[in-house]
Amino acid sequence: MDAPNTKGRKLRTHLAGIQTRLTVPGDKSISHRSIILGSIAEGQTRVTGFLKAEDCLATIAVMRQLGVEINEELESDEIVIEGRGWSGLTASKQPLDCGNSGTTMRLLTGLLAGQPFESQLIGDASLNQRPMGRVMEPLGAMGASLSGYLETELPPLVIQPVDKLTAIDYEMTVASAQVKSAIMLGALQAEGETTIIEKVLSRNHTEEMLRLFGVDVEVKRKAIRIRGGQKLTGQRVEVPGDISSAAYFLALGLLLPETEIKIENVGFNETRSGILDVIQAMGGDLKIEPRDNGISADLTVRSSPLKNTVIEGSIIPRLIDELPVIALMATQANGVTMIRDAEELKVKETDRIQAVASQLNAMGANIIPTEDGWLIRGQTDLQAADVNSFGDHRIGMMLQIAALLVKEGTVHLADASCVNISYPSFFDTIESLEKPSEGIK
Ligand code: S3P
Repeated sequence: MDAPNTKGRKLRTHLAGIQTRLTVPGDKSISHRSIILGSIAEGQTRVTGFLKAEDCLATIAVMRQLGVEINEELESDEIVIEGRGWSGLTASKQPLDCGNSGTTMRLLTGLLAGQPFESQLIGDASLNQRPMGRVMEPLGAMGASLSGYLETELPPLVIQPVDKLTAIDYEMTVASAQVKSAIMLGALQAEGETTIIEKVLSRNHTEEMLRLFGVDVEVKRKAIRIRGGQKLTGQRVEVPGDISSAAYFLALGLLLPETEIKIENVGFNETRSGILDVIQAMGGDLKIEPRDNGISADLTVRSSPLKNTVIEGSIIPRLIDELPVIALMATQANGVTMIRDAEELKVKETDRIQAVASQLNAMGANIIPTEDGWLIRGQTDLQAADVNSFGDHRIGMMLQIAALLVKEGTVHLADASCVNISYPSFFDTIESLEKPSEGIK
């Protein structure tokens, strides 16, 4: 396991009046899946727009350890995966290191549960605290042999080969795309047809991408049906910009005075676009221009007075990763914003309910953490303070956006290098916001 990545940073502060356009790196969820599905497909998969950040690089490293050839074509900026089919993976002599990435560990658990060799999945200190029982339980019901650290449901995980997996009918207990995807990867190696019922819809990239790779996945409202024994065929995958990374600049454009920011080619998927609904509910000036490719849109935001709102229920999985920066938006809105039904935030890369409240309150915000969200008083003046990301990329990036609203003093962020998990060029983009831009039509 690597040493923790803990470099601190003096954050940029006090920005206003910017007019700019930018792009954000590729979607993290789609990038992970392109590597995993490309590896078990037959034939070659070529991926453009892949997110070269620590999380997705961990998935590449793990699939290479399992015998898959994955190359980077420097001229075309494509990742090329030589698919090995379901039966072409080979055992790794070393544990498979998923780093900080819950997506890598949970999806790989589903994939490896049906493979004829033993695997060990390890992660960093944060991942070692994240619950794996949610994938162990349904995969165990299929007949998989999985065990956690010292009989807990925490990593490291050991996956033993079994004679066969059998299809299940499963009602999801948490709204989690990682769990749903792990079950689908297990189901494809099982005898029979698996049904997964979701109470609340989570992101559907696995369903969509399995279809792209030629798998028959039936989705009727909240029921997914998938037959075992289906083959995947290598494809071309185009990865659009990540809406979770765009979220920081959407918030910035709304919160800074005299500002307009256009973010180009942002992945647009109904199961991920909750933040756009919230911006509209808060009265934010947002323009959405869908692109002809059918998968992305250009998003333009302008400085706006925001009003308070309530965020709860089925929208939560559609914006779960954006909640830290939405909480920041609420600190500047008019009135008290309530966010609830988001207890999943407690089991992300850190406890995001506590991290958001403690760090923004250190900067002068007025946020009450609750069991499943926050009560956030608006129109608070943010001030300079020493803050901490707790090694969580989404907390670190949110705090940098908060710092840009601070008018004087120094904001120091401990553990700033965690942005490399999903957005290695984040601070470069922040620094470049100063440079003269071409303006926006
Ligand atoms: C992801 C699903 C979400 C999300 C994570 C990425 C995925 O997690 O928070 O950043 O790619 O499937 P859960 O499935 O645990 O909700």
